[in-house]
Amino acid sequence: MTKPMTLLGLESSCDDTAAAVVRRDANGVHVLSSIVAGQTDLHAAFGGVVPEIAARAHVEKLDLCIEQALAQAGLSLADIDGIAVTAGPGLIGGVVSGVMCAKGLAAATGKPLYGVNHLAGHALTPRLTDDVAYPYLMLLVSGGHCQFLMVTGPDGFTRMGGTIDDAPGEAFDKIARLASLPQPGGPAIEQAAKSGDPARFAFPRPLMDRPGCDMSFSGLKTAVMRTRDAVVAEKSGLTRQDQSDLAASFQAAVVDVLAEKSRRALKSADPRPTSFCVAGGVAANAAIRTALQAVAVEFDAEFIAPPLALCTDNAAMIAFAAIEQSELRGPDDMTLSARPRWPLDTSQPAMLGSGKKGAKA
Ligand code: KG4
Ligand code: ZN
Repeated sequence: MTKPMTLLGLESSCDDTAAAVVRRDANGVHVLSSIVAGQTDLHAAFGGVVPEIAARAHVEKLDLCIEQALAQAGLSLADIDGIAVTAGPGLIGGVVSGVMCAKGLAAATGKPLYGVNHLAGHALTPRLTDDVAYPYLMLLVSGGHCQFLMVTGPDGFTRMGGTIDDAPGEAFDKIARLASLPQPGGPAIEQAAKSGDPARFAFPRPLMDRPGCDMSFSGLKTAVMRTRDAVVAEKSGLTRQDQSDLAASFQAAVVDVLAEKSRRALKSADPRPTSFCVAGGVAANAAIRTALQAVAVEFDAEFIAPPLALCTDNAAMIAFAAIEQSELRGPDDMTLSARPRWPLDTSQPAMLGSGKKGAKA
């Protein structure tokens, strides 16, 4: 039996400042606390995340998040076995804020420091929440990321495909702005789509005609923009029904693409995974979850979608990833640096583009 380990985790790679305490002992893994301070209000006026504002806010909020995480766990720094921190990929100012904070804590306490890949945090979450056995297929789908990963071990990630341009969450946010719906766009589009007609506008399903599981959402975004412009030109504005129909037709296109590409990933994965997992903010979308669950059933795979708080950015996944990986590697030293790009699977060529919410890697 591996010895018990309690880590403080820090996350600051995008627009959420987070701290958490996670323990693994003979009884399993326990999230003792998970604090997330969002920054939506700070960026609202700008229509997207402003990296410099995000970095400054992380500096201001990290201390408080750490205090709250320790207090909620009923522990002090002296009770912690080490500090885990997102060291990339992400908005560099934010990642630097977290890494510097973690180094300061490690230097002051003499505790080990663990730099963690943010994508590994997401990809290992099903082990934290559901104790899923390796190997499993993971679709990571958020505002900054979209990729299929075969997860074969704590540090074993094979990328089977991903977006070649935008991430779906980015597209949801942009379409919401185009349709004069509030931010973050995902929940607003999902809500509007409920009273919309998904068949009114025939939006493209990009890259469906190409083999493999790569995806593209940039052309879809442009198609929605053109259609919106045409409706506005015809009627001098959008009615509520137009908004809903745009939202429903766009969401239907995303659902179709994610479902078909998931089907292909499951079909080509070798060995055939018995679990298909999703993580990331877009996995909150009920229409997307339902479609992915149906695909999992087609392949006799168990469908696992972690609870929303652990699907979106959080620090518990960072602490857990460090615990999980500690069997394979030792701590980092003070030369640990923040990386804006850090692909999980370095054997594959880098994906194109960098989303507004961070590097897609
Ligand atoms: O994982 P996340 O919290 O942050 C990162 O991007 O890393 O994901 C945020 C993204 C946003 O783009 C948001 O619009 C999208 O997830 N999102 C949704 C929904 N809820 C959040 N997209 C579609 N449907 C939703 N219900
Ligand atoms: Zn993320």
